[in-house]
Amino acid sequence: MVHGRSSGCLINFKKFGAKVISLGTLYESRMSYKNRHVISMKDFSRKEIDYILDTAEKLEPVARGEERSRLLDGKIVALLFFEPSTRTRLSFEVAAQRLGGQVLNLGSVEASSVMKGENLADTIRVISKYADLIVLRHPLDGSARMAAEFASVPIINGGDGSVHHPTQTFLDLYTIRRESHLDDLRIAMAGDLKYGRTVHSLCHALSLYGTEMTFVSPPELKMPSEIVRDLQKNKISIKETDSLEEIIGDIDVLYMTRVQRERFPDPEEYEKVKNKLKITGDLLKNADPNLKILHPLPRVNEISPEVDATPHARYFQQAFYGVPIRMALLALAMGVIE
Ligand code: NCD
Repeated sequence: MVHGRSSGCLINFKKFGAKVISLGTLYESRMSYKNRHVISMKDFSRKEIDYILDTAEKLEPVARGEERSRLLDGKIVALLFFEPSTRTRLSFEVAAQRLGGQVLNLGSVEASSVMKGENLADTIRVISKYADLIVLRHPLDGSARMAAEFASVPIINGGDGSVHHPTQTFLDLYTIRRESHLDDLRIAMAGDLKYGRTVHSLCHALSLYGTEMTFVSPPELKMPSEIVRDLQKNKISIKETDSLEEIIGDIDVLYMTRVQRERFPDPEEYEKVKNKLKITGDLLKNADPNLKILHPLPRVNEISPEVDATPHARYFQQAFYGVPIRMALLALAMGVIE
């Protein structure tokens, strides 16, 4: 049986004939990763997160190609991407291959039976029979949780709508741990805090580390109030502003994000806010010398190219860290590492 914890979901599972079972308490007493879905950061304790980061660190030489591994020999990972992706899809592919596993790629949605009107539930039921694990990216909020109800293999959420992107968060935490520090961290998240799933997931995880958070956005793109309330309930110190200049000297990590054009109901609204925040060489003159800049990528205009050559820029290294993290997640979910 595949396990998952339930939380809020915007999709009606029952419509597709799901038997909705609550498995919320299965992991309270002991850490277990085998056959476990990775849907939301809310499903993981700090101890579990730290264990996954430790596992990734051990796998880093394999991710770099310096050591060889056959841990996933005979295993097949299916990649179902219903939204564009470069890093998430390719780093999962590299992760599986570096561990000796094979990849089954749905390819373009246009070429699949989704175009004939097949629903996600049926697609998941069928791919579960072909592969040992499914990585899913989908534009609908709650789709990964729904897929987990129909899968007979573990589902890893590669991003669903504007809600969750847990594997990105694992790699963001890993980057912060490797390039800065997770304890006593002062982070600013900037850009599209309304629609950005990466920052939504990251906030949940960092609240377990007691991180001081500053949210920088134009008023139209503020962090959703449910998330702010959640963090306040957990006694997390939060500051909100629309100015990078105001906070640049007081942070260890600046997590920049792209304005998510595809999630705006009204394209004119996007045009109004798309260039409101930008990291430039000038802005960085007042930064702490140890400041690290992260970005999940792709970037559009929000970081000027001159920043790339500064020691602050860690976003390309961050993209590499996706490989050991996704190796760890694959190996743990398929039970080849305990
Ligand atoms: C992010 C995503 O898909 O949410 N990209 C990624 O996975 N690295 C961020 C984005 O698209 O802006």
